[in-house]
Amino acid sequence: MLAGKRILLIIGGGIAAYKSLDLIRRLRERGAAVTPVLTRAGSEFVTSLSVSALTGEKVYSDLFDLTDEAEMGHIQLSRVADLVVVAPATADLMAKMAHGHANDLASTLLMATDTPVLIAPAMNVRMWDHPATQRNLAQLLADGIRVQGPNSGDMACGEYGPGRMSEPLEIVAAVETALGQGPLTGKRILVTSGPTHEPIDPVRYIANRSSGAQGTAIARALAALGADVIFVTGPADAAPPAGVRVVRIETAQQMLQAVEEALPADAAIFAAAVADWRVASASLSKIKKDAGRLPVLEFAENPDILATISQRKTDRPTLVVGFAAETDDVITHATAKRVRKGCDWILANDVSPATGIMGGTENAVHLITADGVEEWPRMSKQSVADKLAARIAAVLC
Ligand code: CTP
Repeated sequence: MLAGKRILLIIGGGIAAYKSLDLIRRLRERGAAVTPVLTRAGSEFVTSLSVSALTGEKVYSDLFDLTDEAEMGHIQLSRVADLVVVAPATADLMAKMAHGHANDLASTLLMATDTPVLIAPAMNVRMWDHPATQRNLAQLLADGIRVQGPNSGDMACGEYGPGRMSEPLEIVAAVETALGQGPLTGKRILVTSGPTHEPIDPVRYIANRSSGAQGTAIARALAALGADVIFVTGPADAAPPAGVRVVRIETAQQMLQAVEEALPADAAIFAAAVADWRVASASLSKIKKDAGRLPVLEFAENPDILATISQRKTDRPTLVVGFAAETDDVITHATAKRVRKGCDWILANDVSPATGIMGGTENAVHLITADGVEEWPRMSKQSVADKLAARIAAVLC
């Protein structure tokens, strides 16, 4: 519930603005009051009259409106809310926010506010994928801005991909989380992610392939539902999401130690691609090429972190979830892996090169539980993460 909460809703100029009308209704039926700000571009898509009728409040749109300034100055307006929500957040609004522009009412409020800000981006897929937007997104995340979506799917412009604004109820869930009201608020969840690097010598290592994208998406999704996330990550390409506690490690042994130190936890998700073996005695100095002689590496087995935590007698998390990266007989291997390791759920995926899953943005998984196997359609890694987080919330709450 959002009773007694005030949301400052900035409606940007995109076709998704029509969904913001429904968002207003959803927020109000949960008890929130909504103060609307309609940008000039936003007013090309929805009318001030509709917004005012649905919010039951005056619509603000002009920075230099003398009446507005006399009644409530823009600085005061930026401070009235418990949360500022930008929906839809266009590429232009994101760019303004990332660069600190303040040349209209919306951007000025976003600069002046001292309350948390949540944005729901919506734009054409190419605009979303554009390096400039991705740079701006990274900056906004680093600035502590909360980001909900975008979703993948058919777009109003006829293209397909990420860029669709999240649905109103997804934004409401993000609002509740931002206001400390998510379903996982108060739950502590551990997530491992990325590869581990096992040194051969100071300059060489062995590792599994892993971008860390799926683990990062899971941590982001859990945090978005309000969980206190401890994110134990190896050296991954993906930057850790905002709003989680990051513990960086390099080797499997360090990962196990970090995981044990993070217990107790309500749930633990093991998405890391842990190297099964390490070099038994890594050289402390660089191994030099020695004409005609090849180095011989002896391996030692790394601890199985998932199995170790699943089989703990004390402090075992209520829910332990592992992954199974397989290239053949996916379900058979993964089902056996769940029993052998003693975890509750396994997300099994086919990582054969032909699937494009390794290093890609999509995933196709099977959820294997004691009750059987559930096939999830191929979707973005973030959508897999959101679906998993919702399932975890259903079990823990
Ligand atoms: N895992 C782990 N510690 C290890 C190896 C794997 O915690 N030393 C976890 C992974 O994070 C994943 C699950 O175990 O959640 C399965 O990983 P996977 O590589 O598919 O399986 P392995 O145990 O390595 O088995 P195999 O290589 O024989 O398929």
